[in-house]
Amino acid sequence: MPCSRSALGLMVLGLLGVATAAPSCGPGQWVNLTSIPQPRQEHATAAIGDSIIAIVGGLVPTANSTATTDLVQLYDVTTDTWHTAAPAPHKVNHANAAGVGGRLYLLGGLVEAPLSSGLTMNWVATRACYVYDPAVDAWSEIAPMPSGTEKGSAVVGVHEGMIYLAGGMTVLQTGYQDAVTSVVAFNTTSGAWQRLEAAAAELPESRQHAAGAVIGDSFYVVGGRRYGQLYHKDTVFELNLTDLAAGWKVSAARMPVSRGGLSGGAVGGNFYAFGGEGNVDAATGVFNQTERYSPLSVQWTEMAPMPVPRHGTQAIGMGGRIYIPGGGLQQDGKSISVGGGPVIFQHPTTHFDAYCP
Ligand SMILES: *[C@@H]1O[C@H](CO)[C@@H](O)[C@H](O)[C@H]1NC(C)=O
Ligand SMILES: *[C@@H]1O[C@H](CO)[C@@H](O)[C@H](O)[C@H]1NC(C)=O
Ligand SMILES: *[C@@H]1O[C@H](CO)[C@@H](O)[C@H](O)[C@H]1NC(C)=O
Ligand SMILES: *[C@@H]1O[C@H](CO)[C@@H](O)[C@H](O)[C@H]1NC(C)=O
Ligand SMILES: *[C@@H]1O[C@H](CO)[C@@H](O)[C@H](O)[C@H]1NC(C)=O
Repeated sequence: MPCSRSALGLMVLGLLGVATAAPSCGPGQWVNLTSIPQPRQEHATAAIGDSIIAIVGGLVPTANSTATTDLVQLYDVTTDTWHTAAPAPHKVNHANAAGVGGRLYLLGGLVEAPLSSGLTMNWVATRACYVYDPAVDAWSEIAPMPSGTEKGSAVVGVHEGMIYLAGGMTVLQTGYQDAVTSVVAFNTTSGAWQRLEAAAAELPESRQHAAGAVIGDSFYVVGGRRYGQLYHKDTVFELNLTDLAAGWKVSAARMPVSRGGLSGGAVGGNFYAFGGEGNVDAATGVFNQTERYSPLSVQWTEMAPMPVPRHGTQAIGMGGRIYIPGGGLQQDGKSISVGGGPVIFQHPTTHFDAYCP
């Protein structure tokens, strides 16, 4: 980060008492932030407290492809800086992560499995779960996901000490991927996985690569896909976490543009959905849409599109902004030549920005 921007940030902080040193950003605008240290996609993003954003695992570039990583990086919104934390206990992509009580939970995800003939990619779900304590910069093992419930790419919701994982996938390999309906819950107070009431334990339809958040007492699961990039969906599923017996409902309001591989976060009682992949109308295969869902009016509204359209990342609403670290600049597996250079099949980026509603 240039010193001048840091100094300016501190001045603004001093003058206005604003709780961020990041560049300012007006309503409906986008702002660029300090890039993440490595290009990254398919990581998990989580908030630790009200000023730290963690990115966990994912894919980093190699000489001619990408590889699963155990990298963990923490962004401080008050200083607009990144630092590298103790690596995750294993290399994991499409992980499920959440911050609760100042600690970071890493629950399952996909790990690299042996390649049998015909496979160039073979990721399978792991049951392994860990918790990270930023005070000591260390990870410890916690109760694994119950046998048969392991998955990655779930939508993560946090509510009163519980972490809910909705949908997701158990395998992502060359030519094949699945999608699940299961909703499982980890109680951070007891340290145990808990079974949910039947009506809450399954989504109305399977989803992976969806987005979502808890707003008030309601858990929303937005968009996503089944089985592959082009099988994307425009639905909003909703669960009242104080009335699990009432079960999942499908909102009457469909997304203006159906999308999977999108990211999203909540600010001010609304949900904002960004980007995604599987766009047959874009050369990159990536969506640029920003859309706002209002649970109160049950309506979607189109907002300023992403200046740097991405998929394969997760967003976090914090302090009135939604932060979107990294992601992929092109649809995975699509062969694209960037600026006349060699054809690439994936394009993770360091780009980091935020949307200010
Ligand atoms: C934000 O970053 C993108 C990608 O580097 C760049 O194209 C764009 O001009 C930047 N926007 C501003 C306002 O600096
Ligand atoms: C990528 O490089 C590795 C190591 O040099 C090689 O084994 C592999 O075949 C290459 N993969 C592709 C798709 O070119
Ligand atoms: C979580 O566990 C604690 C401690 O066992 C228990 O008191 C609480 O009711 C549990 N929460 C839920 C939502 O079941
Ligand atoms: C959730 O359920 C509780 C208990 O039935 C109810 O009081 C509340 O209004 C519900 N919330 C929403 C958003 O429907
Ligand atoms: C967003 O994407 C659409 C469809 O790919 C394209 O027509 C439009 O120009 C894009 N908008 C911006 C601002 O890039």
